[in-house]
This record gives sequence, C-alpha cells and structure tokens, in this order.
Amino acid sequence: MLEQEFVHEQLKVFRDPETGVTGAIGIHSTALGPAMGGLRLFAYPGLEEAIVDVLRLSRAMSFKSAAAGLDLGGGKAVLVDDGRWNGARHERMRVVGRAIEELEGRYVTAEDVGTTPLDMDAIGEVTRHVAGASPSHGGSGDPSPFTARTVFASIEGAARVRLGRPSLEGLRVGVQGVGNVGSALVRLLSAAGAEVSVTDADPARAEVLVEQLGVVAQPLDGFALREFDVFAPCALGGAIGPAEAAGLTAAIVAGAANNPLSDREVARSLAERDILYVPDFIANCGGIIHVGAEVLTLAEQEVEDLLAAAGDRSEHILLRARETGRLPLEVAEEYALARIDAAVSAS
Ligand SMILES: NC(=O)c1ccc[n+]([C@@H]2O[C@H](COP(=O)([O-])OP(=O)(O)OC[C@H]3O[C@@H](n4cnc5c(N)ncnc54)[C@H](O)[C@@H]3O)[C@@H](O)[C@H]2O)c1
Repeated sequence: MLEQEFVHEQLKVFRDPETGVTGAIGIHSTALGPAMGGLRLFAYPGLEEAIVDVLRLSRAMSFKSAAAGLDLGGGKAVLVDDGRWNGARHERMRVVGRAIEELEGRYVTAEDVGTTPLDMDAIGEVTRHVAGASPSHGGSGDPSPFTARTVFASIEGAARVRLGRPSLEGLRVGVQGVGNVGSALVRLLSAAGAEVSVTDADPARAEVLVEQLGVVAQPLDGFALREFDVFAPCALGGAIGPAEAAGLTAAIVAGAANNPLSDREVARSLAERDILYVPDFIANCGGIIHVGAEVLTLAEQEVEDLLAAAGDRSEHILLRARETGRLPLEVAEEYALARIDAAVSAS
C-alpha cells in the first residue's frame, strides 16, 4: 500500500453548545484493531489548527502501534483550550466521553499532553473506551516510565550501531525537557553511567534532577547544539529544524518527543551529516504498549516482551537503514505499513 493512498477512515468534529467544548477525533486506521491514541488539550488558535493536528497525530499513532507489534489502529483526539477548563473540567471531560462513546469503540482514548489520569476517570464515567485512568479507578495510570524505558533502549541500540558502544557508560547525553518522560529517562541514563546534561523551560524541574542525581543543568538557548554524543528531545515537537540539523554535534538523536523534526527534509539533512536519528514512533512506543495492554487485556509477561522487543526492533531498523542506504524513518514506516497492509489484505 502506498503511503499517499493511506488516508484517514473518519474525522469527527464536535462542539457542545452548553459547555462550549470544542474538539475533534481522528480515526486514521482500524485495520489492526480499535484506533487508539491520547486526548490532547492545547491552546490551538482555532478549530482548523486543531483538525490539522489531529489528522497528523492520528496517522502517527497508526505507525506507532503497528511498529510496536500491537493489534491497535491509529487515532487521536484534540480539544481546543479556550481558557474555560478550570472549574468546569469534570463536566467538560464527560462531554468528551460522550463524543467518544458515539464512536462505539472504534476509537479508544488515553492521556496525552494537557490531560491527566483524573481526566480519564471523568471520561470513564460515560464510556468504557478509555485507558490510563488512575489505578484507584482500575486504570493503569501514568505511561511515562514505560515510554522512558523504550527511549532508553533505543539510545542503547543506536549507540551500538552508530558508535560501536556496548553500554552508555561515559556517553554524553543531553536531555531537552525533563517532565514526566524526560525525568524518568534521566534516571535510567544516570544509572547506566551516562554523563547527563538537562534543560527545561521550567528550571525547577531541572534543578530537582541536579540535586538528586548530580546531573548538569544547562540554559535553554542553544542546548541542542552543545557537545553531546546523544541528543534526546523530550519536550514538545519541532525541536530540530534546519539550523539544529546543521549545527548538532551529537552523533545520535533519540527522544520521547513526538514529531521532533520540523519537517521530513530534516531527517535527510541529519543522515547527510552521519547523525543517526531514531524515528520518534520507534523510540517512544513504551507508553502505547502500557496503555494498549489495558485495552487488549495483555498479561504482564506479554507487556514485558513487547517492551523488550522495542529495543531490538529499533536496532534492527537502524541496521537495515545502514545496509540499504535509506533513512531510518523510511525503513520504520515501511516496517509499520507492512503490518497494516497484511491486516487489510487478510480482512
Ligand atoms: N508521556 C508519555 O508516555 C509519552 C509517550 C509518547 C510520547 N510522548 C511525548 O514526549 C514528550 C514529553 O512528554 P511528557 O509526558 O514528559 O510531557 P511533560 O509535559 O511532562 O514534559 C515536557 C517538559 O518539557 C518542558 N519544555 C517545554 N518546552 C520546552 C523547551 N522549549 N525546551 C525545554 N523544555 C521544554 C516542560 O517544561 C516540561 O517539563 C511530548 O512530546 C509527548 O508528546 C510522551
């Protein structure tokens, strides 16, 4: 199946006249299973921008789940933050839950940027098509530590492929953004003996890690261009544009952030400079494995196997890219599409 032909199955735009809740749900593919992906609450300038984002993000979820070996499709939901969520949040999340319920299980939501397990609890009052609720509500809770695990495994794999290093001992790693995933990643890196530098738009978050782990905090400006072996973008998307691609000293880029490259051309620029980029959806798949396990009712050992396989898969994709002279991004997309394609053919 050609990627260009691989269009979205459904787009649902909703606006609740009573509460003013405005959002969109994108179902990119249900070929492998129910479309799954988080609920993002963000201050989009308007509905149009939110729709563009939900189409992009739901497509990325198809690739992520397929590559992770999950029988899940790709979906996503976005909400326009109109500044009126405080106070009315619980009721508003129930409105979102009703919009999800109308899709009759074709889309399953979870936590994402701007939403929390508590929001999933509220949504869970009106639909069962939700994962990642708080453990007290029977959910699996925060997926971030699991995302950090697969990012860490991807960095290990990339270090073997690109630097011939069997461990991360002594490797200089710069982590941009030390929120839920970034901070968990820093702990894993420190335990593995890496020399970790961190930065965050909220300096207090970096300071905690400096005090607890003895990592080095650096200013935000120019962080990506400092002397690192590995640059790990773990804040928001778009951290690496043409300027960063031209100036990075790191040999490896691997992090948690979705869409860390400003556009596809940047992937080519990085490869031309022999910088190994681990595609975002390959590195950060631990979170979807964790919440997806809830939906697919996977046993603990199955989850562990999927998490462990993520590191090997990452290395396999990087090696295949090197052998064939193609971009890791292209090889990773082809890998995911092959699984989706097989499911379409079998149906
Ligand atoms: N949480 C997960 O399990 C998961 C799974 C897959 C992908 N991701 C992606 O990983 C990234 C991080 O997720 P998270 O859950 O840790 O989010 P988070 O909000 O907990 O952390 C993000 C951190 O980045 C900081 N930040 C924002 N802009 C910055 C900038 N310009 N420079 C440096 N720091 C900046 C914030 O202050 C915050 O501490 C996001 O892009 C998210 O979409 C997360």
